[in-house]
Amino acid sequence: MKASQAFGAGLGFRRELIPELKAGVPPDIGFFELAPENWVGMGGSSARDLRFFTERYPFVCHGLSLSLGGPGALDEALLRRVKGFMREHGISLYTEHLSWCSDDGHLYDLLPIPFTGDAVKWVAARIRRAQEILGQRIGIENASYYVVPPGGEMGEAEFISAVVAEADCLLHLDVNNIHVNSTNHGYDPIAFLDALPLQKTCYVHVAGHYVEADGFLVDTHGAEVIEPVWALLDAAYQRCGPVTSCVERDFNIPPLTDLVDEVRQVATIMARHAAVAQRVIAGS
Ligand SMILES: [Fe+2]
Repeated sequence: MKASQAFGAGLGFRRELIPELKAGVPPDIGFFELAPENWVGMGGSSARDLRFFTERYPFVCHGLSLSLGGPGALDEALLRRVKGFMREHGISLYTEHLSWCSDDGHLYDLLPIPFTGDAVKWVAARIRRAQEILGQRIGIENASYYVVPPGGEMGEAEFISAVVAEADCLLHLDVNNIHVNSTNHGYDPIAFLDALPLQKTCYVHVAGHYVEADGFLVDTHGAEVIEPVWALLDAAYQRCGPVTSCVERDFNIPPLTDLVDEVRQVATIMARHAAVAQRVIAGS
């Protein structure tokens, strides 16, 4: 997929949903997203199931474990496997988290990178190398974090902008992560949005989160999308246009019809902005 080519609104591809999807993919679902780590090298009926869907629907790869900000060596073997997987299944967009999750071993958590000039250079060099191996630009996702990393020399939005510029990569915007971080760390989500390089947006995530008793938010992808997050999605489209967007749901998986309702809501917001864009183009 070229960055400018839209698949509309999509859904995370999960094994639990395969039986329902085999009975018929609702027309509201424009594409599926998967984590390549969960499918690379898979054989048997899972591989046949995946092939059935990738032959019929567009897919996007969203990585989980590349650890772009990690201190250890970049996992080039993983990138080569991902490249082969994408070619095999005709997938053209790959995104990863702007975070780190491994040193000698995997930490099974996505941790924030210190917002420093040295970290910009370190992570941008790793993104450039990843892009070199894959032969294409990748999208980096603004991550949720619960403790502000120490030693910061700039704000998060400035950090993301510097990495995108230095690496010449694309931005994967997660509006739920902005809501979670802005609530937990007390900043204005719209001002944050405005400080990002939104013209580089290739992909958008929308998701739900868990609210703890003291109001602290945890980015679980285990609940329905709430109104402030829909409003942020709307604000994002207002600024960068209706970019291909996916509903993430990783826990407490509801019936497919509930997820499709959320995909439809993404498509509705998207269509509103597409109509505005057409009016602007027609009127110009
Ligand atoms: Fe996300």
